[in-house]
Amino acid sequence: MKNLGLHEIRREYLKFFESKGHLILKSFSLIPKNDKSLLLIGAGMAPMKKYFTGELTPPRRRVTTCQKCIRTGDIENVGHTDRHATFFEMLGNFSFGDYFKHEAINWAWEFLTEHLDIKPEQLWATVYLNDDEAFNIWKNEIGLPEDRIVRLGKDDNFWELEVGPSGPCSEIYVDRGEKYGCGKADCKPGCDCDRYIEVWNLVFTQFDKDEKGNYNPLKHPNIDTGMGLERIATVLQGTNNIFEIDAIQDIIKEIEKISGYKYGSDKNKDISVRVITDHIRAMTFMISDTIRPSNEGRGYVLRRLIRRAARHGIILGIKKSFLADLCDQIIDSWSVEYEELKENRESIKEVIRNEEEKFLETLDQGMNILDTYVKNIGKEKTLSGQDAFKLYDTYGFPIDLTKEILAERGLKVDEEGFEELMEMQRQRARQARDMDNIGWTNKEDEHLYENIESQFVGYESEKTQSQIIKIIKDNEEVEELSQGKAVILLDKTPFYGESGGQIGDTGLIKGKDFIFKVLDTKKTSKGIHIQIGEVESGIVKKGPVEALVDPQRRRNIRRNHSVTHLVHRALREVLGDHVHQAGSLVTDSYMRFDFTHFEAISAQDLKKVEEIVNQKIFQGLEVETIVTSPEEAYKLGAVGLFEEKYGDIVRVVKMGDFSMELCGGTHVRNTADISMFKILSEGGVSSGVRRIECITGPKVYEYLNENLKTEEEICSLLKTNKSDIISKIKTNSNELKALKKELEDYKLQSAKNNVSEILKASYEIEGAKAIVYKFEGIDVNTLRNIADEVKDKLGQCVLVFSTVNEGKLNFIASVSKSLTNKYNAGNIVREVAKVTGGSGGGRPDMATAGGKDITKVDQALDKAKEMIK
Ligand code: ALA
Repeated sequence: MKNLGLHEIRREYLKFFESKGHLILKSFSLIPKNDKSLLLIGAGMAPMKKYFTGELTPPRRRVTTCQKCIRTGDIENVGHTDRHATFFEMLGNFSFGDYFKHEAINWAWEFLTEHLDIKPEQLWATVYLNDDEAFNIWKNEIGLPEDRIVRLGKDDNFWELEVGPSGPCSEIYVDRGEKYGCGKADCKPGCDCDRYIEVWNLVFTQFDKDEKGNYNPLKHPNIDTGMGLERIATVLQGTNNIFEIDAIQDIIKEIEKISGYKYGSDKNKDISVRVITDHIRAMTFMISDTIRPSNEGRGYVLRRLIRRAARHGIILGIKKSFLADLCDQIIDSWSVEYEELKENRESIKEVIRNEEEKFLETLDQGMNILDTYVKNIGKEKTLSGQDAFKLYDTYGFPIDLTKEILAERGLKVDEEGFEELMEMQRQRARQARDMDNIGWTNKEDEHLYENIESQFVGYESEKTQSQIIKIIKDNEEVEELSQGKAVILLDKTPFYGESGGQIGDTGLIKGKDFIFKVLDTKKTSKGIHIQIGEVESGIVKKGPVEALVDPQRRRNIRRNHSVTHLVHRALREVLGDHVHQAGSLVTDSYMRFDFTHFEAISAQDLKKVEEIVNQKIFQGLEVETIVTSPEEAYKLGAVGLFEEKYGDIVRVVKMGDFSMELCGGTHVRNTADISMFKILSEGGVSSGVRRIECITGPKVYEYLNENLKTEEEICSLLKTNKSDIISKIKTNSNELKALKKELEDYKLQSAKNNVSEILKASYEIEGAKAIVYKFEGIDVNTLRNIADEVKDKLGQCVLVFSTVNEGKLNFIASVSKSLTNKYNAGNIVREVAKVTGGSGGGRPDMATAGGKDITKVDQALDKAKEMIK
């Protein structure tokens, strides 16, 4: 057996098949093209499905590749076993209606035995149950003994994806010797133990499986083979698992350097090393292929891999972000085959660094929160969907990471509950987007806008010479218009039609002797801008006109639109990357921005956002518009709805190095044109979606002036100047407090002086005295003091007082301690207050109650007298 390195095996393989008439193709991107059935490329044949079915013509009918692949089936097992990997490379030779089983089997044998020098005695083959043709080739042409050809069923020897080319297959196994075996008598390929390792799968592609699961025979049979590069390297290098082969060992050594941990010295930490070793390759290749971390689809897989690797770095004791440095190792080593890695080095590192650092920032906080959740977990040992969602949404914990951390502690997550909340969030985002992108949806009118060519020139200019090509009044085309409302279509228009959250333009359309006032502009679903307005003077006719957008209004709309991009970016900086736009409204007077975030934003964070945005305005960043393909935009790293449908061309609006978004709106040329920015309010729209409302430019000036005016009024009312407002208010309020106190003291004093007056109202009850008395303008506290005073003078007594003060009615009852066995102050005051619809109570010797109906005070006091009797 030849001991070849990973990169050498790849070369040998491709060269071998080149010598057999194959065209060597570069690996296809990990992102499937025009194939909704796949998230990521996971097999050598996957990018070439259409060559198999005949839908597309291949560059040659014999092709060979080394395809980068990602399989995400069980990410959580990666690291825990010797074999699981997300990233791997697959060597393959393909025949599109050219050669078939005979060549495929013979060449595979030749390559293994003559080029890799694997001993024929070590090789086994499997065939599909009744595939006698393949069986006989192995037996008669290759000379493989019958007992080393195993017939296996559909589970093992039939290859297929969800949909697409598929067929029975024949697999080649290497016998690694008894020492790897389980020792059972019937141990052979198909056994679970490690003795026989499958290295090559030869698929005889004869069917095209459709969405319903039907196997439709293909016109011509094909060959699709797949040999896992890492797998064959394991065999040739005689290692126990993929983590011991040469190029992968180099990664492990790098991790050892960074972490100071020696691989092999602790079982648990070895898991972390293996996780990182695998995930770092996957993330490097994914980012190089333009995938970016996000919360959906491929982006989510990437996010999950980066975050999982980052967490395992911490387990190894690595104290800072390290993945971006580590990926240099992959780039340097793998660029022998994948040159693009070198070209993309900087963006790969930046994406990894950003994602890792963002995650590390919230990781501690998230772990703390998770710990508190765990403490409160009930008997079911399940974290609620709500809690998992919050961890995801606020702290960036992918659900699978939460699951994994909990599993380490023997706990579970309510995944269904989580999914429900996720779906709700998705729906909200979709709805908001739909609202944003709504076109002119008057279905009945649609025929009026058919076959119209109207070019939008409003990005470059606000006024233009153009032609009225159609006038529509009351849903009917007219030749001319002398008065009233109508719709006008222009061959060239500077008027922006409402879309993407931005309102439509207004302005004038001036003909030779008429003026039409544009009150609004809409955009049909086909992108035609329609000017809606009314005749201002003359008779509107088809023909040449001057179209003039209201420039000041447009300027303000531009300010408010550009600022949404700055706000979006600033929010992500302050709150985190989970912030996504979930709708917006851009008008000439203000802008409204909805975004995903779990809780109210603190005043402090809001201020930070405002500061950042203003800074970016004051810095005067150039605003550039790049018109490009969606793919290029994605590569540039533009933020936007890449999962949505786009045409061939998108506009990317870039503001310095601060913000880059896909956007069809109109924008300022330089952020300095926005002039100034102010957030007016923050609030919730629905669960998980927040809204802020903001103003720019002249509106901020108005706002400041309004505030100044109020300030001036305050000054004049306080008879002071601005610099003294605060101290003046403090003095005033202190003075007011002092006066109140003085007044109360005064009232008490005067009430005390009146005690002799009150005493006159006393009357005899069994061995004691009673007073029932009505006060005005005295607060309850003072009343209590008076009661004490009266008691002192009167000796044993029962007192019931009412007072109406500042519109409020109150009662107190006071009973000498020695009488409380006969009279209960609490009961008395409660019953008395009840007469007025009020309530209250207290101790047997002292109680208070609030009354309601002031007109019933006398009735209430009568009740008191009655009770005292
Ligand atoms: N497409 C086959 C596989 O991936 C070769 O196993």
